[in-house]
Amino acid sequence: MSNEALDKVLANLVIPVVVIHDAATAPAVADGLAAGGLPVAEVTFRTDAAPAAIESMAGDGRISVGAGTVINARQVDEAVSAGATFIVSPGLSREVVDRCRHHAIPVLPGVITPTDIMAGVDMGLDTFKFFPAGNFGGAATIASLGGPFPNLRFVPTGGVKPHNLADFLCLPNIPAVGGTWLTPADAVAARDSDAIANLAREATRSARHIVKEQS
Ligand code: 3PG
Repeated sequence: MSNEALDKVLANLVIPVVVIHDAATAPAVADGLAAGGLPVAEVTFRTDAAPAAIESMAGDGRISVGAGTVINARQVDEAVSAGATFIVSPGLSREVVDRCRHHAIPVLPGVITPTDIMAGVDMGLDTFKFFPAGNFGGAATIASLGGPFPNLRFVPTGGVKPHNLADFLCLPNIPAVGGTWLTPADAVAARDSDAIANLAREATRSARHIVKEQS
């Protein structure tokens, strides 16, 4: 499982978590994200349209498309066949991690507690999704986890929004954040690529500014 491929995804600083109900709306989402300078999307397996949406967006070639909400090996297989290049899971599952290794695709499994984290480290992982961040202490909790786990990285999702982006991205153990605010349900349904481009542009500008201030 190459960290280089994962690092390329995280270098975007902000990962749009996309819920697509109708794969026909996927091209507009890809258009918006590409035009907004945020060439990445995590398409969630919360809907039946996910594999077709991933196929459409990955085939477009302009953005890195991963699969989110992946909770078993079958979904890993479906995501990979559809063209996903990274896998995100809400929790830590050996089945999911092993299947991602089988496909040599990077995986970002979810953790919350030190016990989850230690189980993940035992699986050879060093980068985790921290979900649902807003319900479990947000940035303050991730800062505290940096004490016992100084070499690990956390990508918070769940409650990350423009107003608290800086709280998260100013921490050295947070390489990127994820969230649904970049692709609101109404904009996706209306195929409003301009609205998505504006949100993507603003998030990228703001994230880069926050990170630059820290260096
Ligand atoms: C996820 O799966 O990453 C979260 O549901 C995203 O949460 P948000 O809607 O608060 O961004």
